[in-house]
Amino acid sequence: MRLLPVLALGALVLPLAARANDPNSYAQPDQVVVTHLDLDLKIDFPHKQLDGVATLRLDWKNPKAPALVLDTSALKIASVEAVDANGKTLALKYALAPADKELGSKLTIEAPRHPAQVRIRYVTSPGATGLQWLPPAQTADKKAPFMFSQSESIHARSWVPLQDSPAIRFTYDAHVSAPKNLRVVMSALNDAKHPLDGLFDFSQPHPIPSYLLAIAAGDIAVKETGPRSAVYAEPSVVDGAAREFSDTEKMIATAESLYGPYRWGRYDLLVLPPSFPYGGMENPNMTFATPTIIVGDKSLVSVISHELAHSWSGNLVTAAAWRDIWLNEGFTTYVQGRITEALYGQRQATEEDLLAIRALQKDIGAMPANAQKLAPDPKGLGGDDSLSDVAYSKGSWFLRTLEQKFGRQDFDAWLKGYFDRHAWHSIITEQMLADLKPNLIDKYPGKMSWAEVQDWVYGTGIPKDAPIPDSPQFDAIDKERTAFLAGMLPAAKLDAKGWNTQEWMYFLDRLPDAPKLADMQAIDAAWHLTGTHNAEIGMRWYVHAIAAGDKAVWPAAAEHMTRIGRLYLTLPVYGAFAKTPEGLAYAEQVYAKAKGGYHPLTQQAVEAFFASAKRAHR
Ligand code: BES
Ligand code: ZN
Repeated sequence: MRLLPVLALGALVLPLAARANDPNSYAQPDQVVVTHLDLDLKIDFPHKQLDGVATLRLDWKNPKAPALVLDTSALKIASVEAVDANGKTLALKYALAPADKELGSKLTIEAPRHPAQVRIRYVTSPGATGLQWLPPAQTADKKAPFMFSQSESIHARSWVPLQDSPAIRFTYDAHVSAPKNLRVVMSALNDAKHPLDGLFDFSQPHPIPSYLLAIAAGDIAVKETGPRSAVYAEPSVVDGAAREFSDTEKMIATAESLYGPYRWGRYDLLVLPPSFPYGGMENPNMTFATPTIIVGDKSLVSVISHELAHSWSGNLVTAAAWRDIWLNEGFTTYVQGRITEALYGQRQATEEDLLAIRALQKDIGAMPANAQKLAPDPKGLGGDDSLSDVAYSKGSWFLRTLEQKFGRQDFDAWLKGYFDRHAWHSIITEQMLADLKPNLIDKYPGKMSWAEVQDWVYGTGIPKDAPIPDSPQFDAIDKERTAFLAGMLPAAKLDAKGWNTQEWMYFLDRLPDAPKLADMQAIDAAWHLTGTHNAEIGMRWYVHAIAAGDKAVWPAAAEHMTRIGRLYLTLPVYGAFAKTPEGLAYAEQVYAKAKGGYHPLTQQAVEAFFASAKRAHR
């Protein structure tokens, strides 16, 4: 399972067709929608808070609407006022409801006279789930504090009061003050030459959903990687990052050749401190990325191809609800693969596809039936269904199937047309299907039946004729692994000298869940995986070595878990420790030390995991 956040989708009971509202938001877009946000923020490091003034421009839809309802989470509201066309203000009555655990506090603003704008003064809380505040010690250079946001899925509401639903799009301007000498960046056009004078202005002229609002501040240097791209990172990190990501312009040009012009202007990258909870986040104009992909050989840069691809699938054409997230992640994983193939070759692209295919095949059977569907039945979604491999791997597999059945030329033309036809809009799965049917399936009859399409989208498991690509490299590794596990091939004789990152990942992924201790010791003696700087390899290695009972790796595993806050690289190691009571106790000690450096989402995920692991041991 890809470890992404748990979404509360349990509340939804409306049938699809009648679904006006997003079950993960209190917003009522049938009454009124926000069209523009003017944000004034002061970044207050000592208090770990943002002092904010949010002015929302409104488009009232229902002439009788009595109120504007917003999403907030742990915000302290100081005042709410109406702003008329002349800038005159008038205080408005409002009510902040008690917090729901997942959705936060509904903010109801009485506004029967339908003001053009509403202005809210507020302060965030130090525990805001969408922000992390890092003291200097937790940064790479240890000199200045750092803060960053992570709004997807429903955390924008913890730093701005707004309609926090991907169905609603707005433009924004922001004015941000920060301590002098720090740099502030946002999900908007950023100016590398901006003086570090403590005052920054931003403008995002394209309508975006709230989950793409983003901000970061710290001791951030800049290095150009192309005519419209640069890397932003702490000074000690920026040169290595610029080298690792030097293909960024080629990636943009490749995506443009397939799907039409990059519409956002610049494409910059921000490398976060290692506590960043994800691999990457597609914030418009400024992808946020984990430093764990900087390994020196560009072998993990497909994360950047992925986040760049979201500039079409996700940021341009957006899933209107979280139930439709595969429209973002599945389409993006497909496009990512096309960029990888064009720049790094078929072998690399196929290996990345196969890693995902094998992981999905291994996991999908154990998931609840509804979670196995690309477009799940909203009624049956439990509160703890997490976003999983299904959206990414089954989604991209479906698109590769279409590509094979219709041929690259016609499929590419459809996909480019799909992006154009829905540009700057948020849509649900059924709208995608309504585009697919006339423009691909029915246009070229006899290639794929509508029933097959529906099986991919609404069926459980993986359709029987799903195409599996060939990888001679992976086949050879399968043979070697089998011989090694059968005792026919000593570890030192594995032909691993030339294995790239993905080939090591594949070898480790396919070891038994509980390997023999002697086997793991032999691998480490020959190939020195303990202490590796490649955390994708490290995570897989520690998981198997711990499962084999190899206590010698515990300190290095603890170092990995303490240094890296990226959930997907950390949580599986906690999982391996938790299989025995002694390991669980050790993992709890590691967590007690690591916790201070973890993002609030990582803390939540690890604590929820401990609670369930303890239930299992009881
Ligand atoms: N948009 C996602 C990250 C995300 C999804 C955050 C859902 C919160 C909720 C991003 O584009 C992503 O998919 N990141 C992946 C990397 C990718 C190469 C699979 C990640 O972080 O692992
Ligand atoms: Zn993604």
